[in-house]
Amino acid sequence: MSLNSDIEKAVALLRQGDVVALPTETVYGLAADIHQPEALKKIFSVKSRPFFDPLIVHVSSESQAQTLSGNWTSLHHFLAENFWPGPLSLIAQKSDKVDPLITSGLDTVALRFPQHPVFQAVLQKLGSSLAAPSANRFGKTSPTQASHVEKEFNGRVFVVDGGASEIGIESTVVYPQKTQNGFLLEILRPGGITEEKLKSILQNFPSPVQIQRQEKQNSPGHLKHHYQPDKPLYILEEPVSSVEKTLASLGLSPDQAAEMKLADEPTLAARQLYEQMRELAESSAQALYVVKKPGQHGELWEAIWDRLRKAASNG
Ligand code: TXA
Ligand code: MG
Repeated sequence: MSLNSDIEKAVALLRQGDVVALPTETVYGLAADIHQPEALKKIFSVKSRPFFDPLIVHVSSESQAQTLSGNWTSLHHFLAENFWPGPLSLIAQKSDKVDPLITSGLDTVALRFPQHPVFQAVLQKLGSSLAAPSANRFGKTSPTQASHVEKEFNGRVFVVDGGASEIGIESTVVYPQKTQNGFLLEILRPGGITEEKLKSILQNFPSPVQIQRQEKQNSPGHLKHHYQPDKPLYILEEPVSSVEKTLASLGLSPDQAAEMKLADEPTLAARQLYEQMRELAESSAQALYVVKKPGQHGELWEAIWDRLRKAASNG
């Protein structure tokens, strides 16, 4: 089937209240129409996702986001103008159009305008918004290719193949809020848009913005363990002798453990991260390990190590 007929089929299934997997520039998402509660429930059952973990709503324009939000501030507008479409999810007060299933009963909703042309085409043809978490079983490694989703759900979910996700890790989640003397921007999940990038763009915002990392408290989905491959992953420290010693202490000889070798360049390391995790977990190795190198700070490294720590058994 051609890509266009796959897009048509996805739209038809979504209209019927089904879930489908769609490519985004970050990771593949498991999408459902936000106006169909039965479809939303399917997301949770297919993923075995607990209802306390809220979903991101994907929109096809800033104005669509505004209709779902009760309080779209000038900081929301500024960030949307600078980063949408793209890997930034904005938390906003929700309007009563947003089903509590999506927000797990919170009074806020996460909104994102994705960049991927296939996802945009589906949104446009459907004429609605789509709730879409990453298309993996709850707590497991996110998919960056159509084949990952096929395997994840044993072919039970229709997948539109839009190629490998370019960014490879999930969107940055931020919560813009008006304060007495300016604005506060809480970063709830590091991701494709880095803190440096946010800071540099915010220099052009007319009011002062205080940026705060606030990962644990406000983001119900930020459990300690997440993104986990099907075999245990360990984070080890250099030098090599200490790597071998640690493996031995875990009862593993070097040939029983497969090393995840991260690319030197962070955008490449991010793009390959989940694919590597999946491939090595499918190999004959009993466990996976990754060696933390000095200098992997700033830029996307923070987001990459956030995922690795949560995926690791010793994170
Ligand atoms: O890149 C992405 O964001 C991908 C693609 C498919 O768009 N989606 C994704 O969804 O990563 P998911 O469900 O795996 O992660 C959504 C995160 C969770 O950590 C959740 O807790 C947080 O967003 N979240 C959603 N709504 C929230 C809210 N109202 N307040 C705080 N955190 C929220
Ligand atoms: Mg996820």
